[in-house]
Amino acid sequence: MKAEFKGSYPSLKVMPQDRFKEFAFIGRSNVGKSSLINMLCDHKDLAKTSSKPGKTQHIVRFEIDKKWYLIDLPGYGYAKVSKDSRKIFGEMIQEYLLERENMLCVFVLIDSRLEPQKIDLEFMEWLGVTGIPFAIAYTKTDKLKPSEIEKNIALYKEKLLETWEELPDIFITSATQKTGQKEILKLIDTVLKTALATEKK
Ligand code: GTP
Ligand code: MG
Repeated sequence: MKAEFKGSYPSLKVMPQDRFKEFAFIGRSNVGKSSLINMLCDHKDLAKTSSKPGKTQHIVRFEIDKKWYLIDLPGYGYAKVSKDSRKIFGEMIQEYLLERENMLCVFVLIDSRLEPQKIDLEFMEWLGVTGIPFAIAYTKTDKLKPSEIEKNIALYKEKLLETWEELPDIFITSATQKTGQKEILKLIDTVLKTALATEKK
């Protein structure tokens, strides 16, 4: 796989529109986003080398195989006490997700070791309400026994099904074991092909 850094943007307004469809990755800080992105791309430090250290919030874009863009979104959930979703999830993130028409699916990364977190549930709720297509990727599953993974995911499913009739696609991943790479890339490929075929009609 050929992955190439294409730019880091402080807002959607300065992000060029171009030819390729986009797939975005998001999650709370330390969830394992950089590790997962590097694992998907078979790259040691793609995500780290290009993203700004510290709290700078940028949208980072990588071109994959001259076919699609991988979008590394900033983490959400910094402002905990707020009723304003813009503050909770971040203005830039919302703007990107709501307005980016060539974004086909956002992968929400969730730490498989934790019980369902309010902020993650609220974020997915917001995605559902606003009609943004998403999938879930559970991270760091190598740190758990299969039975523990099952148990944690079952808890999440239960919570999600309180509000939704259908569950999103769910991926079990580990950056260290390369778990889930094939599956995630396959979904991206399928979604991409479907979108491009629909456009041609
Ligand atoms: P920030 O960019 O700082 O918000 O974090 P991030 O979400 O990009 O997480 P990052 O990939 O930097 O990983 C955070 C920590 O978790 C690091 O110490 C990683 O080595 C570890 N980690 C990430 N993914 C995995 C995994 O699949 N398995 C294990 N065992 N550790 C992981
Ligand atoms: Mg990171």
